[in-house]
Order: sequence, then C-alpha cells, then structure tokens
Amino acid sequence: MTALRFIYDCDPGADDALAMLVALGRPDALDMIALTCVAGNVGLQPVVDNARRILELAGRQDIVVHAGAARPIMASRGRISIMHGSDGLAGSTLPPPTMPLADGHAAQAISRIARMEGRLHVCATGPLTNLALALLLDPELPDFIEAITLMGGAAFCPGNTTPLAEFNFAVDPHAAAIVFDSGIPITMLGLDVTRQAVVTEEMIREAEAIGTPVAREFAHLLIHYGSKDPCLHDPAAIAWMLAPDMFSTVQGHVSICTDSGPAAGQVVAAVSERHLAGREPNCTIVTGVDAEAFRRLCLDALR
Ligand code: BDR
Ligand code: CA
Repeated sequence: MTALRFIYDCDPGADDALAMLVALGRPDALDMIALTCVAGNVGLQPVVDNARRILELAGRQDIVVHAGAARPIMASRGRISIMHGSDGLAGSTLPPPTMPLADGHAAQAISRIARMEGRLHVCATGPLTNLALALLLDPELPDFIEAITLMGGAAFCPGNTTPLAEFNFAVDPHAAAIVFDSGIPITMLGLDVTRQAVVTEEMIREAEAIGTPVAREFAHLLIHYGSKDPCLHDPAAIAWMLAPDMFSTVQGHVSICTDSGPAAGQVVAAVSERHLAGREPNCTIVTGVDAEAFRRLCLDALR
C-alpha cells in the first residue's frame, strides 16, 4: 500500500496536535507533505509555533510549514477557543521551535503543491480560510484536489460554539461556504461523530504507559485538553483517512449559513430525496464511529 500524500491544514490547538501525532505515527499509510497553518484556536503566531513544536517533538523537521490566514475572510478577528489554554497546547512544556517557516502564504502553497502533485488530498481541522483563499486565488484548483477530509460542522446535532454552529465553521462561515461550493468531494467529520470519539481514563493510562516523549506529550494533551472538552475532534479526521471502515456515513448536500445573525456557520444538510430536491450530494457526512476501535487506532499509532 502506498501512503496517502496529503497537506494538513490546521490550527494547533491541542486536538490538532493530537491529530498530528496520530498521523505522524503512521508513515506507512499517511505522507504529510506539508503543513499549513490558520488562526483559529489561538492566533496565527502561536499556531505556527505549536505546529513546529509538535513536528520537532516527532523528529519531522523535514515537513514544510507555511503560515496562512491570520483572520477570517469577513471578520476583522476570529474567535479564540478557551479550551486549549492560552498557549494553544494546554500549557505544554515543549520548547519554542527552531525549525524555519517556509516562504509563501499557505493558500499559495496549497495551490502550488496541488498542481505539482496532480491529485492532492487535503485534511483540514481548523477554520477553512486557507483553503477558501486558495480556491479564490486559483479557480482551477478543484481539478487538482482529489478530496478534502475536514473536521467541522454539526449536521444533525447542536453546535459547540453557538446553538447552531461548530467552532471551525462559526469562526469563518464564508470560507466554509466557499469550500462546500467548490465541487471537490468532501468528507465532513462534524460534532455528529466527534462527540462519540471521546477520551477515556483508560486511554490516558495507556498513553502514559507507552512512555516515549511523544506519548508523554500525547497524554499531557489528553489530560489537560480532555478535562475541558473530551471529544477528540481532529484525530477523528485523521482516523477517517486511516480506517474509514470504522465509521458510518450518509451522503448529503451541505450548505453553510453565511448570515451575520445567530445562524452564522450553521450546516444545512439535505439527505432525503425531498430535501435534496434534485441536487447531487456534495459531501459524505460522517455520523458514527466505533469509539473503542478509534481509541485503539490512536494508541497503536503512538506505539
Ligand atoms: C474544533 O474546534 C477546535 O477547537 C478544535 O481544534 C476542533 O478543530 C471542534 O469544534
Ligand atoms: Ca482544530
């Protein structure tokens, strides 16, 4: 099996960091060819620092890191999440990064790398601003992106940031709308599934028992982030790329509410024939996961 080559667009963020470590633990299956950063859980500078701190911890300074959008498309500043601590990594003791940032904006990098690769996979677990900017910059980009796997949205359940919207889509609803309108095949792992992918005491104990520096950091993040939000949102997106069979899905047409009112960032998911009203599905909506198999996959990747 050849490893899936993908760009990881993210906003670490404790659960983005956990997702990175799971992905980097499976080089047999996943080849992270670049990492692009977007402001989200914390501001852009801590995000680019955290991404590099995690790559250095994993010994993967070879992965290029590009800084991207510092704010959402239509707002002068984003929302910051309180779940990840003021540094974004739940008070991690990892040293500041030393590896350099690559030249060029994340959106340009996504377009350039996708064209070079021909058929690129993108995994996005932050606000979708970088991807939306790339699509605006390069209208032919959908021809070069084979698929997008993303964590975001809440199709059939309440939001976690507003009653209707999940954090990543609430931060930049316009970017999410642009991405869902792109015609690129999307798999959406929203709160419908990530609320099932929760951390357990046993998972923490097992991670601690592995005992490597990577596993110790993983356990630290599980303990300190997990005490505020037990859902392993972003690792679920990586797990989908590794083992889609452990998930259940439904095909649907997703559009995103870009009104400025209380519904901003809401997912409108049409799945029945009546609601599709002749439209083709544009999204695989992930609705369920075998939570035990998911936790096992994360721990096995750490080993
Ligand atoms: C999403 O928002 C962020 O806080 C997490 O990193 C995750 O990507 C969950 O709503
Ligand atoms: Ca995230």
